[in-house]
Amino acid sequence: MIDWKLKDISFNSDNIAWHGNKHLVGNGYMGVRGTLEEYTKEQLVAVNLAGIYDKVGDGWREPVNAPNGFYGYLIVDDEVVKLPESSAEEHYVELDYRYGIFTRCTTWRLMRGNITLKSTRFVSMDDVHVGAIKTEISADFHADVKYVFGIDADVWDINGPHFDIIKVNSNGLMTVDAVTHEKNHNVSVAQKVTVEFPCEVKREEEINKAVASVSFITDLNKKYVIERYFALYTSLDCENPLEAAKEAAVTKAIEGYDTLLEKHKNAWENLWRRSEIIIEGDDKSMEALNYSLYHLHCIAPRHADNLSIAARGLSGQTYKGAVFWDTEMFILDFFIMTEPEVAKKLIKYRIDTLEGAKEKAKGYGYDGAFYAWESQENGFDACSDYNVTDVFTKRPMRTYFKDKQIHISSAIVYAMDKYISLTGDDSILKEGGAETIVECAKFYYSALIKKVCDDRYELRDVIGPDEYHERIDNNGYTNRMAKNTFRIAIEVLENEEYLGAFADREELIGKFSDAFDKIFIQQPDSEGVIPQFDGYKELEDVTVDEVRSRLIDPKEYWGGAYGVASHTKVIKQADVITWLAMYPQDFDLEVMKQNWNYYEKRTEHGSSLSACMYALVACMCNMTEEAFPLFTKSATADLAPGGKEWAGLVYIGGTHPASAGGAYMVAVEGFAGVNFKNGKLNVEPKLPESWKKMSFHITYKNVLYRVEISDNEALVTEVDDM
Ligand code: BGC
Repeated sequence: MIDWKLKDISFNSDNIAWHGNKHLVGNGYMGVRGTLEEYTKEQLVAVNLAGIYDKVGDGWREPVNAPNGFYGYLIVDDEVVKLPESSAEEHYVELDYRYGIFTRCTTWRLMRGNITLKSTRFVSMDDVHVGAIKTEISADFHADVKYVFGIDADVWDINGPHFDIIKVNSNGLMTVDAVTHEKNHNVSVAQKVTVEFPCEVKREEEINKAVASVSFITDLNKKYVIERYFALYTSLDCENPLEAAKEAAVTKAIEGYDTLLEKHKNAWENLWRRSEIIIEGDDKSMEALNYSLYHLHCIAPRHADNLSIAARGLSGQTYKGAVFWDTEMFILDFFIMTEPEVAKKLIKYRIDTLEGAKEKAKGYGYDGAFYAWESQENGFDACSDYNVTDVFTKRPMRTYFKDKQIHISSAIVYAMDKYISLTGDDSILKEGGAETIVECAKFYYSALIKKVCDDRYELRDVIGPDEYHERIDNNGYTNRMAKNTFRIAIEVLENEEYLGAFADREELIGKFSDAFDKIFIQQPDSEGVIPQFDGYKELEDVTVDEVRSRLIDPKEYWGGAYGVASHTKVIKQADVITWLAMYPQDFDLEVMKQNWNYYEKRTEHGSSLSACMYALVACMCNMTEEAFPLFTKSATADLAPGGKEWAGLVYIGGTHPASAGGAYMVAVEGFAGVNFKNGKLNVEPKLPESWKKMSFHITYKNVLYRVEISDNEALVTEVDDM
């Protein structure tokens, strides 16, 4: 059995960025990186907010990092004592990932003796605007202690600074009221402290920080406890965020740390009741899998109606806080099966951003809806024309992700269809979903190309999931997904209930049916291999290692016009295999296996979205043992060190929600074999050798089921109430 705790003993400053991701706590409204209270922007501290963006000058538009209400550090005998500068005698950090509670405990050996600071903190899952931290200080000598604490508005930004105005108040109730550059959003934080021992409380001065201090002389080995409560509101939440923050900070301080903690833990327990996965026989897998689910819970926008999930969750500003196809193709299944209400919100976000997608399509001369590759609010595409910086020339490189990854719109349609068939809830169709689907189909229809001498339709000049090969023709995955879009659009159009009567219905059905029939779908060659795109098989056939050995700089970008992989068969991530994972019915098992064997060894797995798709298809091919290490890779993307942090010279570190969602898909749909063939819940397990038993709950068509697997036999029972 696992203890739901990740403990890292000893301190290594090289781990600061990685631990910031690994030990993140979050509640969907904000994500707080797992950094220490004394850290500042140099150590990539971030209280990253969902759905509030800002752009300064020509920099990338990115989500706003709020002033940090957990800020605090120690001064002992007039000397500042903090990491990383003051080396620690003993140190550990611990993340309790059942409840999102972060603890740090550090002992410093000073001239006169040892002093220990322990703090425990969380951002409430019960009230998403609130964070609480309890700090305990003790020394084995009469230390002259000053604990400085407050709200740090000098925040880490990649393309900032985003606050034009920062109003700080350190008198009494501490507050920071900051105003963003582009849209004048207010981001307001208030903090209340409670101290129940005799001490001197004083206002302090630090630039762009609301700070105060408590000073006292310690008795030998006595614990001094300081509790702090912060509340954070923005002008997207209410009219007067500063007042709301002040009021909440005071109210929460009255409720007290223990009460807040209990409510917070209960809220988490409610989430785990439906989502925990128990694996007997392999604690490491159980830990990695539930830790992945922890991260998904931390970023689920439960508090909002029109937000989705960013590719790096709430771990910072990398990837511009934007929503990619990751949500629909990798993350959604978890929510559909454990918390369909959240899945619906994710879908609603796309419906609400339809106008942005229509505008984008128009801008490129297409009809319908071409969704943003990197979607921010209102469907604005944050993807830049120059997404990578060349390591040699230091110049921005023209990339075509935004212009050519047209598969994005099909992911949205695929997700809607899946949501409806697994939940039985077709209300989204009446709430704009039907129109969204039809607009996506119109987009693909307008992108089709037909040679005069040929009868088939093609999609040319695109990028598939494998981003290393740009501007290719007839990407197998993209064409197959477009075909599916036509199918679903026809179904929607045939049902008057969803769209009401409108003039060109018959005409559209005719067009989409024709497109469905004639769109070119890549087929297996004589060896059973499905070409990833036209001409793929003619590329240089070298190993991934060979391509890697050609790098001159380790941060070099593998794709684009001159990338080391571009002219080879080596691919970044699952592409044909993602197609097979979505449509296993398209080919027989032999073809699936053949393609798995062919492509896996040619895949860099340079995206965290890759391993899970290979693992899923391996499970479908009864290759459980091949699937297992790929599952582990997916489930440990944020647990293990060494994640990919650079694309050219651009920092891309952060958490990996798609990988976490992918790990869920492999465990539940792959190993446990949950599927919905013929409109029924089926469980056909193929557990890895070490998994003796597995149990979990899933929701299907509004009914909650408990699934228990033992000796590869499944017992499925309906659960009334939980
Ligand atoms: C991958 C994309 C993915 C994006 C965000 C890129 O590296 O190639 O498929 O959507 O990261 O996770």
